[in-house]
Amino acid sequence: MSTLIPCLAFVPSHLYSNIIKSDSFHGTSSLASVTGELETCEKDGTKTDNTSQDEVTSQQELSVNFRRGLDEFAVQKDLISSEDDADSLFPSSPAHTFSSPAEYDKSKFQLDDRVQFWIDYNRNGTMTEEDFQSTIAGVAGRFAAGGNDARQYWLRHLSRTGYFFANAALGSVASLVQQKLHSDGEGEDNFVKAMATSGVILRLLSEAALSYEQDYDNIKKGKYKEPHDMYTLNAQNNPLSFGRQTARFVAEAMGTMARRNRASEEDKRARIRDDGRYPAYYHTAFHYQTNGWMSRESANVYETSTETLFLGRQDAMQRTALVPLVAHARQQRGRPHGSGRKPLRVLEVACGTGRFMTFARDNLPPDSEFTAVDLSPFYLQKVKENDRNWRSLQRDRSIKPVQIVHAKGEDLPFAEEHFDAVVCMYLYHEIPREVRAQIAAEMARVTKKGGRVILTDSLQKGDRPVNDNTMGNFEKMNEPFYRDYIEDFLPRHFEDAGLECLTKTVLSSTKTLTFGKPL
Ligand SMILES: C[S@@+](CC[C@H](N)C(=O)[O-])C[C@H]1O[C@@H](n2cnc3c(N)ncnc32)[C@H](O)[C@@H]1O
Repeated sequence: MSTLIPCLAFVPSHLYSNIIKSDSFHGTSSLASVTGELETCEKDGTKTDNTSQDEVTSQQELSVNFRRGLDEFAVQKDLISSEDDADSLFPSSPAHTFSSPAEYDKSKFQLDDRVQFWIDYNRNGTMTEEDFQSTIAGVAGRFAAGGNDARQYWLRHLSRTGYFFANAALGSVASLVQQKLHSDGEGEDNFVKAMATSGVILRLLSEAALSYEQDYDNIKKGKYKEPHDMYTLNAQNNPLSFGRQTARFVAEAMGTMARRNRASEEDKRARIRDDGRYPAYYHTAFHYQTNGWMSRESANVYETSTETLFLGRQDAMQRTALVPLVAHARQQRGRPHGSGRKPLRVLEVACGTGRFMTFARDNLPPDSEFTAVDLSPFYLQKVKENDRNWRSLQRDRSIKPVQIVHAKGEDLPFAEEHFDAVVCMYLYHEIPREVRAQIAAEMARVTKKGGRVILTDSLQKGDRPVNDNTMGNFEKMNEPFYRDYIEDFLPRHFEDAGLECLTKTVLSSTKTLTFGKPL
């Protein structure tokens, strides 16, 4: 069992606070072969800037500049010593009033009961292995007593976690063997022992069980449908592709370990032919995966890697975004026909491989129009495959393909008020603070009045107090903006862009914040 742990430590994803180490890769790939297949569209909207320079004091000007682009920031940052917390320089910062981003969220959003549940779960870190075991047994018992559908869901998800657990074990063994061949391997052994004796594996399994219970509860309450891949042979759920995916995962994991251990400057950089399309921060080999976001290897294995890290609960965490999305769609559909109802338009910014979009499509009316934006042509290629696969499983052959757009979140090529809802997942922890503000402004700009912007990302300080002191360690997975992310009062970016805070939920390692654009 202990061999699982190092694997969990290096697979690409957006958190795992106290499981940390890293390594990296390189790889070159032909961008042209992929970009040629992608659709683009021209921007015809204009950007808005809600900031009134006249109204701000000189200190606040500094704050405004802080949010405005790398160049200006580069000048201002000379004013900030390395020991200073950037927030402390800005009197208007919520950091002066709220002890953590979670506290700020609490003052702004309607919280569902899961927010407090996850704050309290193992709050002081005192739960024992027996406690985790009885949590898992409790969840299993409730599923068993919940009727046929509940049992089906549980069995399906148990096998899901079993598969990703086996992946983790395999990747872990392979990496240990590799390390033994190339070094004395002592450090890793100690790491493995330390983690294994602290009940980490049982804790992770208990979190998976609780996540499934929360996901199923949403399904039972009719907030969204059960996952479309429970009974279909889709790409991720096809026994024929398990072997290939595991082989790809293990190969990628071994490379990641090797690079993580080296952690050279070269390992930390993605090699991108810089034609001005890719911002400086994007040249990071995030998670030390093969060439960051810019390789076919990393795109091929991304879903398997993240699910391995989370022992299968990644989809359930992402589906928290379905709750506000589906609710909004229903509200729109409920409007009388005479009010000029049009097909719902949904945009996902930084969509990665587009897996979430398949769940969104499965839950929204078939005539809805979906647009997927990402900066990686390799990931966009996977979006196309996932979308094709999902559509091939639908009876309705008239469902349109997703529109795939290669663009930056901070410069969206769409008209103002074009979309009913905009979703953005696991992007914000990977970008500088000022870019978070720019992308929030862009998402707000392209959202219709009365529409929704839904942000799903890693937890921040205060969301699970037990992790507060360790969550920043994820930075070591070559996540240069992570420490800033966990301290950032995210709603501020959206409020500055004219949106209002609506709801917040948490599921294990993920939070979902929903914003509304006033009518
Ligand atoms: C951690 S992945 C998340 C992918 C997906 N949303 C998910 O949840 O699986 C981050 C994604 O953001 C994309 N990305 C990073 N910076 C971006 C930017 N400025 N604009 C658009 N996409 C960006 C990357 O290419 C990558 O696909």
